[in-house]
Order: sequence, then C-alpha cells, then structure tokens
Amino acid sequence: MTEVAENLPPIETIYNPNSREYMENPVPQCLELARRGRLVWYEPWQAWIMTRMDDIMACWKTEPLSSDFYDWEYAPKRPPEEEWSNFERALIGHSLLADHDHHRLVRRVTAPAFSRNVVDKIQARIEPEIKKLFDELGSPDEFDYREKIAFHIPFISITRMVGIPEKYWPEIKQVIVTFTETWNPTISDEQRESARQDSNRAITILKKIIDERRNAPQQDDFLSTLLRIEAENEGFEEGDIITLILALIGAGADTTLVAQQWSVYALLKNDRSQIAKALATPDSFSNAFSEISRWGISSKMGFARYAPQDMEFMGEQLRKGVMVLMMPHLKDHNPDYFENPEKFDVERVFEPDATFGYGPRFCIGAALAKRQLYLSVSELFKRFPNVELAKEPERDESDHNAVVFKRLLLKTNCR
Ligand code: HEM
Repeated sequence: MTEVAENLPPIETIYNPNSREYMENPVPQCLELARRGRLVWYEPWQAWIMTRMDDIMACWKTEPLSSDFYDWEYAPKRPPEEEWSNFERALIGHSLLADHDHHRLVRRVTAPAFSRNVVDKIQARIEPEIKKLFDELGSPDEFDYREKIAFHIPFISITRMVGIPEKYWPEIKQVIVTFTETWNPTISDEQRESARQDSNRAITILKKIIDERRNAPQQDDFLSTLLRIEAENEGFEEGDIITLILALIGAGADTTLVAQQWSVYALLKNDRSQIAKALATPDSFSNAFSEISRWGISSKMGFARYAPQDMEFMGEQLRKGVMVLMMPHLKDHNPDYFENPEKFDVERVFEPDATFGYGPRFCIGAALAKRQLYLSVSELFKRFPNVELAKEPERDESDHNAVVFKRLLLKTNCR
C-alpha cells in the first residue's frame, strides 16, 4: 500500500459511511478518504477503494475488472449448471454482467428500446399514474413524501415501462422490493436466499407474461419491443429478455427511490429561486438532477468490481476475487473538481457528467429515471407551490448503500 504512511489513523476512523457523522455530513469523510491515495485498502470491507475520477473513468471505459457479483471472493458458490433454477439461468446463464461480448450485444440490440422516442411514449403512461397518486393524496396540511409518493414511483414506472399486466402486479411487487438483495454483499445468507426465492417466483410470472404476449398483438411497450428484437437478432433470446427485465428492476427501483427523496429535499433546502430553473423543462431538470446528486452525496459504497484473476492494478497486487469499489462521490465537494462546491446551482456545468456512469455500462434507464423524477417533482410543486420541509428529516441508518430518510415530512401550506 504505497501511499499510506505507517502512522496514519486506521482507515475506518476516517471513512465510515454508516456513522451518524457521515449521514449528517459526508463531506469531511469523503475528502479525507480521497487524500489517502488513488487506491486505498479498506480493511473492514476487505476491499480496495478507487478515489480519483480519472482512474474511475478509465476503469468504466476499458473494464479491466469484472462486474459479475459471482466473481467476488465471498459470493455464494456458483452452482453447477445441472442444479440451476430459473434464477441462476437468468443471472449467470444470460448475465448482462458476466461476459463482455454478450453484454455489448445486448446493449447494442436493445438500445432502440431506451431511445428518447420510447421514453416519450412511456411518459404518456406514467404521467396519469403520478397524477392519480397526488389525487389520492388530496390536500393534507402535512404528508410524508417518501411514503405517499416516492415509494410508489419505481413500481409504477417499471410495470408501465415493461408492460406487466395489472393482474400480475401484486406478485411482482414483492420482488421489486427485494431483488437487489440477491447480490447485496452486506446482508445475511438467509436474507439473500429469501430474495432469491422471490426472484424465482417473479421469473415464473415473467415467463407466463412473455408467453401471453407472444400470442397477443404488438403493444407499445418494452416487452413487445424486446420480442421484436429477439425475432430479428441471433444470440438474443428469451433468457436475455428475462435477465434484462430483472436488471431494470434491480437497477431501477432503489436508485429511483433515493433520487426521489433527494430531489425534493435538495430543492426545498436551498434557495427557492432554483426550483423554477430546475423544473423549466425536462432538459433543465436533467442538469439539475446532476447537481442534486452532487450536492446531496447520497452514496455510501459506490460501484463494485472484482479482480478476475490475480493481477497488478494501479501499482498494487490484487488477489483474484477481491472487491474494488469505485467511488465517484468522493469528488462531489472537492474544490479541485467543482468551484464553490457548497453552493447549490442547478445550472452548474458538468464536464463530464458521470451521474449515470460512463462507457459500456452507462445506465440504461437514465432518460427514464430523469423523466419520471421530473414528472413527479413538477407535479408536487404544481399541486403545492408553497410546500416546505416540515422538519429536518431523520436519516435511516439501516440502508447500507445510500443515505436516505426515514420519512420526508412536507408542510403543504395549501390552506
Ligand atoms: C436516478 C436514478 C438512477 C441512477 C442515479 C442510476 C445510475 C446508474 C449508474 C451510475 C450505473 C452504472 C453502474 C456501474 O458502473 O456499476 C447504472 C447502471 C444501470 N442502470 Fe441505472 N440509475 C438510475 C435509474 C435507473 C433506472 C430507472 C433503470 C431502469 C429502468 C436503470 C437501469 C440500469 C441498468 C440496467 C444498469 C446496468 C447497465 C449495464 O451494466 O450495462 N437505472 N445506473
């Protein structure tokens, strides 16, 4: 560990994202960790941490490390193929994560399904659902935005985007809540196994939905688009469709919930003149969301990669399977990267903008995520132009990946 002098304090005393101090103000800890060096060994997690943006961008771009959870040294063992359930078939056999060539193929052939044009059509389905949520809310003096609005948005947008018929919603709902637990390194084996069983049940339902759709006329949703892509592209099969839908659930549910809370909190906590600028158009909100993410630093762990073999990497010797965490959030209040980092400015220029990743694994759902946020936050301010925070929200210590709130109480001031 070349850059760490011997008499420095232990790493967990300078960076502990589960500490109360981090949750209240992550900035000092992020800056301190970055000062420790480019690639820092984090003993409590048995992981290396990559702290600098140029290294992270290079890693995103050229992918020298694996993104496959099963390559982690502490991951549950990959079962032999004859023992695979639907879950392993989806997560290993057709994995978006494992094989670079297959990943590139899936991204290339499915790109049209995520184009702006398709997002516009999906918007038309999501918008009435969001309005319905606010109709049901009515005009209370005070309400919890997390419970009444944010919590429902991932489910609405994923089911509407994919085209999951309403009769299957109750069964699919559970897996949307638990799916990311199937590869969460920080929870117990029992919790992971229970999430795996939920996922297996969801895959059975997805297969049923796909069978039904094969016999139904073309519809204007993601599933129909993917079935067309399947018919036109060799090497892209039903297993890929299931994997991709699970990936959308896995990558799109928690992230959206966090983004919802921070978008509302950041706009209400700062100078109110920023609200109109942020919500002027979907494009202005897109930039505002990068600023919301930067200002809020909700991330705790960053993005995990694993050494595919014993290897030399950035001057260090990595053992096969060791976790490497890329932490782009460490830069977010660093004046070397951002002028006046404490200032919240929704018109700040981001070059490059890495809010949704970079390179071959750039977020598939970025356009959709920003649009659904724009729609719900706009609706909030349309219904309650004088809304404000009822009180400073308490942070939820139980979330291992992100700083989130237990509740986000808003005072509507509508009477
Ligand atoms: C505000 C919310 C979101 C944020 C901040 C976000 C951010 C990201 C980031 C940074 C990555 C790259 C991760 C890495 O390199 O390990 C990523 C990947 C991904 N995201 Fe998102 N995301 C969001 C919402 C969504 C939504 C709504 C969906 C789907 C509907 C989605 C689907 C995906 C998928 C499938 C990947 C993996 C792409 C691949 O490996 O090729 N994300 N996201």
